[in-house]
Amino acid sequence: MRSMKVNLDKKSSSSYEIRIGYKIVDRMMLIISKNFKANRYVLITDNSVGSIYAKQMMDSFKDVGLNINRIEFSAGESSKNINTVMDIVGKLLEIGADRGTMLIALGGGVVGDMVGFIASIYMRGIPYIQIPTTLIAQVDSSIGGKTAIDLPVGKNLLGTFCQPCAVFADLMFLETLPQKEFNNGLAEIIKYGIIDDEKLFRLLSENMDAVKNRDSVVLLKIVENCCRIKKSIVEIDEKEQGLRRLLNFGHTLGHAIEAVSKYTISHGEGVALGMIAAARISEKMRYLDLTQLKRIEEIILQAGLPGKIPQNFSTADIMSRLVMDKKKKDDIVNFVLLKKIGMPFVHGGIDDKIINDVIEEMK
Ligand code: NAD
Ligand code: GLY
Repeated sequence: MRSMKVNLDKKSSSSYEIRIGYKIVDRMMLIISKNFKANRYVLITDNSVGSIYAKQMMDSFKDVGLNINRIEFSAGESSKNINTVMDIVGKLLEIGADRGTMLIALGGGVVGDMVGFIASIYMRGIPYIQIPTTLIAQVDSSIGGKTAIDLPVGKNLLGTFCQPCAVFADLMFLETLPQKEFNNGLAEIIKYGIIDDEKLFRLLSENMDAVKNRDSVVLLKIVENCCRIKKSIVEIDEKEQGLRRLLNFGHTLGHAIEAVSKYTISHGEGVALGMIAAARISEKMRYLDLTQLKRIEEIILQAGLPGKIPQNFSTADIMSRLVMDKKKKDDIVNFVLLKKIGMPFVHGGIDDKIINDVIEEMK
């Protein structure tokens, strides 16, 4: 099992360890029972993850003598809302959960974001542990303490920053992850290589087949690298005042394409297209050289992610979604661009015509 600490401030109370490994549930339980004592634990998961793993996880808690309850909700983004929060909170009250209770988020980003949100407000705040089961959650959403639920007008509009007290990423969970969900995580992993680490980029392109086959040895190296990048960024900029925005590479246009597709394009596919667009804009504006652009396009195609925006998507619709992007500030759409692989920067003044041309060229 590998381990790294997220050092958030001098008071070590908000710092925590990320532990990563393959089949680490037994060790995880020993660590929880020794280091994260609580009167009661409540495992919160969605019904898909629950149907595969809840019994095994509940038994593991009981085997080390811990008092555990379980709450499940329907899987999917459509559950990430205030109604589900109220439902879960009602069940916590029925169980008798109090400030001596520890929540356990077992699942993907939807479970993690929502459990983190509840933990941050239930009885003015109780601790929680992240056990991420999707690739996205293992390399991104379980780390850094962004919690949120969606509102009818947009995603993640109600939320808090609330760090977990530990993260346990067991690669074993990835074995049952549907292909589409695995590909969403693949796009995020490529993103880390592009924004932070030429070595990770090379490791990925040289081992793409093993990654796609979910080889646990290769995945361990890759997930560990990604977690290290994410934790280093969060350590410097916990509340997203600057550096953390770099994690949005590919997401600005990606979200717009996802929305215009009415979510028939997955998050990973949107991010893949958004990363190519951001790299092409960078090249057009003479920040990035053509060879690097080609390497970025190649790795995305190698991963089996798309390189072309469907012909029938209107460029005008994508442009107007961009303007609605919540990251827009003072009439500026902030784009993360590249000077080279591993060297991103935020640009707030890109001419609409350049974005428009790149979208057209990508069809
Ligand atoms: P998700 O949580 O909806 O999981 C995707 C699907 O996979 C679900 O149906 C789930 O039941 C299923 N699943 C999860 N683990 C499984 C496993 N091991 N085996 C079989 N099925 C499994 O989606 P996600 O992609 O993990 O997360 C997306 C969410 O995360 C979004 O709401 C997004 O806003 C949020 N997010 C948050 C952050 C953050 O920093 N907090 C970062 C990225 C994304
Ligand atoms: N997923 C982006 C962030 O954590 O800031």
